[in-house]
Amino acid sequence: MRAAIIGATGYTGLELIRILSRHPEVEITALTSERYVGQRYDQVYPAVGAIASRVLEPLNADAIAPRADVIFTAVPHKEAMQVVPSFIKKKKKVIDLSADFRLTDKATYETWYDAHTAPELLAKAVYGLPEINRKKIKKAQLVANPGCYPTSIILPLTPLLKDDLIDTSAIIADSKSGVSGAGRSLKTGSLFCEASESFKAYSILKHRHQPEIDEQLSGICGKPVSITFSPHLLPMNRGMLSTIYVTLKRPMSSSSVQNLLTSQYKNEPFVRILPEGTLPQTGWVRGSNYCDIGFALSGRRLVLVSVIDNLVKGASGQAVQNMNIMMGIRETMAVDHVPMYP
Ligand SMILES: NC(=O)c1ccc[n+]([C@@H]2O[C@H](COP(=O)([O-])OP(=O)(O)OC[C@H]3O[C@@H](n4cnc5c(N)ncnc54)[C@H](OP(=O)(O)O)[C@@H]3O)[C@@H](O)[C@H]2O)c1
Repeated sequence: MRAAIIGATGYTGLELIRILSRHPEVEITALTSERYVGQRYDQVYPAVGAIASRVLEPLNADAIAPRADVIFTAVPHKEAMQVVPSFIKKKKKVIDLSADFRLTDKATYETWYDAHTAPELLAKAVYGLPEINRKKIKKAQLVANPGCYPTSIILPLTPLLKDDLIDTSAIIADSKSGVSGAGRSLKTGSLFCEASESFKAYSILKHRHQPEIDEQLSGICGKPVSITFSPHLLPMNRGMLSTIYVTLKRPMSSSSVQNLLTSQYKNEPFVRILPEGTLPQTGWVRGSNYCDIGFALSGRRLVLVSVIDNLVKGASGQAVQNMNIMMGIRETMAVDHVPMYP
C-alpha cells in the first residue's frame, strides 16, 4: 500500500513515519510540509536518518493522489477540510487526524470551531475509535481519527454506559496532557519557561474536545450526556492521564467492576485493564498504542484512571490501527510496540 502523509513535519506526522516505516505492507510515497518544501525529511528531523530521506513537497492533491492508496491528513483543523474532499473525490481512503470530520452536526462544529467548508462529508465520515466502531471503520472511505482526550475518556466509560450503571448527570473527567498535544508550531504556552516546572488547568468547560466527548458518550448510552471536562497541561513531552469521577446507580463490588471492564475489553489488543488495585501511569504506555485503565471504588463512588500516549493511541497509532482495519489487514500490524519504559 502506498501512503501519503499530509503534514508530515508535525508531531503526529513524525509519529506516523515512526510507525509506518516498520509496517511491512506500507510504502510511504509522499510527505508534505508548508515551511520545509524542498528539504529532505531527515534535514528537518535528523533523528530519523535514512528511514525518511524523501524530499518534502507542497500539498497538491492532484500531484499526490496518483501515488497513494491511503492518505493521512495530519494538519490543523480547517486546513484538513480544504484538502480531504479532493482525495475523497479521487476515491482515496483518507484518515484525518484533525477535528474537522469528528462531529456529525455542522452547526455544532461551527459553534466550537469555524465555518465548515465540506459539510457534505460529515455524514460520510466514520468516527475512528476501533473499540466501538470497528465494523463501520472496515467499510469507511473517510475516517475521523478521534481526539486524544476523547480517546482517554470514552474507553473507560464505555462499559459502564453500555450497561446503564452510572449517573450520567454528574460525570467529571479531569485530564492531563503532555505538551506535544499542542503540536510543534510556535505557541507561547508551549515554550520551555512557560510549560516546565509548572502545572495548569486550561479551557475548562470550553475545550474543543467537549462536544466530541459528549456526542460519542451520548451515542453509546442512547441519551444526551454532557460531562464536566477539565483539561490540564503537564510539563512532560508526551502522555495523557484522565481521572474520571462517576457515581454508580447501584452498589457494585470491586470484583464486579473489574469483571465488567475485563469482559468488555478481553478481545481488544490495545486496551489493558490493570489488576484490581493497580492505577496506571503515563510512563507505562509511552510510545505504545495501549490504553491502560485502572479504578478505585468506595461505596457508590467510582474513580476510573486511564492513560494513553497522546501521539500514539491518541493520534498516529490509532490512525494506523484504523488503516489496518480499512485495508483488511491484521489490526495490530506495526502498532504493536512495546512501551518505552522507563
Ligand atoms: N499532537 C497531538 O497529540 C494530537 C493528537 C490528536 C490529534 N491531533 C491533531 O492532528 C493534527 C496535527 O497535529 P500535530 O500535533 O502534528 O500538529 P503540528 O505539529 O502543528 O503539525 C502540523 C503539520 O501541518 C502542516 N501545516 C500547517 N499548516 C498548514 C497548511 N496551511 N497547509 C498545509 N499544511 C500545513 C505543518 O507543516 P510545516 O510545519 O512543515 O509547515 C505540519 O506538518 C491537528 O489537527 C491536531 O489537532 C494532534
